[in-house]
Amino acid sequence: KGYVSIGLLGLGTVGTGVVKLIQHHQEQLVHQVGCPVSIEKILVKNLEKEREVEIDQSLLTDDPYDVVLNPNIDIVVEVMGGIDETRQYLLEALKAKKHIVTANKDLIALHGSELQSTAVENQCDLFYEASVAGGVPIIRGLTDGLSSDRIQKLMGIVNGTTNFILTKMDKDGLSYEKALSDAQELGFAEADPTADVEGLDAARKMAILARLAFSMNIELDDVEVSGISQISKEDLKYGSTLGYTMKLIGYAHQENERAEVSVQPTFLPNGHPLATVNDEYNAVYVYGEAVGETMFYGPGAGSLPTATSVVSDIVAVVKNMRLNVTGQSHLSPQFPKQLKNQNE
Ligand code: NDP
Ligand code: HSE
Repeated sequence: KGYVSIGLLGLGTVGTGVVKLIQHHQEQLVHQVGCPVSIEKILVKNLEKEREVEIDQSLLTDDPYDVVLNPNIDIVVEVMGGIDETRQYLLEALKAKKHIVTANKDLIALHGSELQSTAVENQCDLFYEASVAGGVPIIRGLTDGLSSDRIQKLMGIVNGTTNFILTKMDKDGLSYEKALSDAQELGFAEADPTADVEGLDAARKMAILARLAFSMNIELDDVEVSGISQISKEDLKYGSTLGYTMKLIGYAHQENERAEVSVQPTFLPNGHPLATVNDEYNAVYVYGEAVGETMFYGPGAGSLPTATSVVSDIVAVVKNMRLNVTGQSHLSPQFPKQLKNQNE
């Protein structure tokens, strides 16, 4: 038909960024994939809501099947969030031979293998670069850039909201409540910010990263988690007088086919590179046996940064479509090693 059509599930913080990027970078996209990329339908909850982006109203629908089963749509881009209902839509979309791009770490951490096997069975692509660290290409960094190496350790800040809160409490003296409400207003926080502040969002991201880095079947239950909701300004001040900065640190390590993955508030010496990562920024150290130390850094949340990863995934899908090599995902479809019982 001479163009590629996208169906969007969601037009919130990330969805709005995706629409803007497709509108404003159309020339760049045509240059990358050789044809226009067009938005065919957009699922929203509230058809009456005022939108932050200029959009033809007739594109909006509140019926998910106008997107998921729409015969004109090639790629379903899921930026609505949620788990059970969303899983169902994506499975149905894959069975209807739609490629999937998603920013949903909750879904990938919990149902990534089911979605991937359904994608492969249906010869569809499934990409989720935006699910970890927003605009930072950490997933492709691990699975493409460092694919020849044996990754031993990951350590980093993978939640923008909690990093923003800790930075504002520490540097600007904001209360925890004010810093959290600012993060919500800026669109960094999850619909239910408990997932951010209790460390669950970071745990989901660390499970995804560790799975990809170590090729192990790491589940969310394998991640030891604690969050920042009990951290006070006094704790941060006390650390600061001793030369330390608190960060919510994700850590993953593998040795002899065993992995250890955790998320915990951690005091870092002020000179530590991760101690200087502020606001909604994320950074992940990756230690590979051959490469040594590498670091990925950038905006971990927010509309346009996250949309950059989503739209780059769209570009990857369209390239695969044009080469007739779809059925790809970040984790190669060979057999992932089983995670051994940590207590064995
Ligand atoms: P928002 O809450 O801003 O937007 C969600 C969108 O989905 C809204 O347009 C909403 O409709 C629509 N929606 C939600 N549920 C339904 C439903 N049941 N039926 C129809 N429409 C629905 O979320 P974000 O854009 O912040 O996040 C989207 C996803 O991206 C999440 O998985 C999140 O974890 C992930 N993500 C977010 C980042 C960020 O910085 N915000 C960064 C990286 C990933 P309506 O507009 O009518 O309310
Ligand atoms: N709520 C998430 C965060 C969004 O703050 O990091 C990006 O995944």
